[in-house]
Amino acid sequence: MKTNNNQKTPGLDCGFGSENKALDYAFQLVEEAAPPKKREGRDLVVCSATEIPEGGRRTVADGKRSIGVFRIGGQFYALLNVCPHMGAPLCVGKLHGTHRPSEVHEYDPAFHGRILRCPWHGWEFDVMTGKGLYDRHGRAATFPVRVDSHGDVVVTV
Ligand code: FES
Repeated sequence: MKTNNNQKTPGLDCGFGSENKALDYAFQLVEEAAPPKKREGRDLVVCSATEIPEGGRRTVADGKRSIGVFRIGGQFYALLNVCPHMGAPLCVGKLHGTHRPSEVHEYDPAFHGRILRCPWHGWEFDVMTGKGLYDRHGRAATFPVRVDSHGDVVVTV
C-alpha cells in the first residue's frame, strides 16, 4: 500500500535537501531524466539484436573505450563502461530494481531490472537514462542506440 512519503523520513539529508521530501524528489529526478539525445556520430555495430536476450547485455570495445549495451523491456540502451565515481567497469555491475521510501514492513518496488549497481562502491544508475540515484546531478555517460534494417544493434558514438 502506498502512503504519503512526505511523512516518512523526518530530518533526512541525503544531498537532495534536508526536507522530508528528499527521497521523493530523488525519485522524481530519476523518473524525469531524459534519455540520450539523438546526435551525429559514427555508427558502432555491436551485434545482432537477437544475440542480446531480454535483461541481457553485451560489452563492446570502441578503440580504447568500452561500451555496455543492455536490453530492457525490448529496448536497447548503451552506457560508457566507466563509472563517474572512480572509473570502475560500470557495465559489469548487477542489474536490479530499487524501492521507494516506505513505512517499515512496506515495500514499494521501483525501476525493476533497470538499476545498474557499480561493482566497486555500489553507486546506482538508471540504465535507461544514465541518471544516478545517488545525487541530483550524477549520471553515467550514455549513447543513442537503434536497431538497423539488418536487425543489428547500432550505437552512435
Ligand atoms: S567506482 Fe563506481 S561507485 Fe565507485
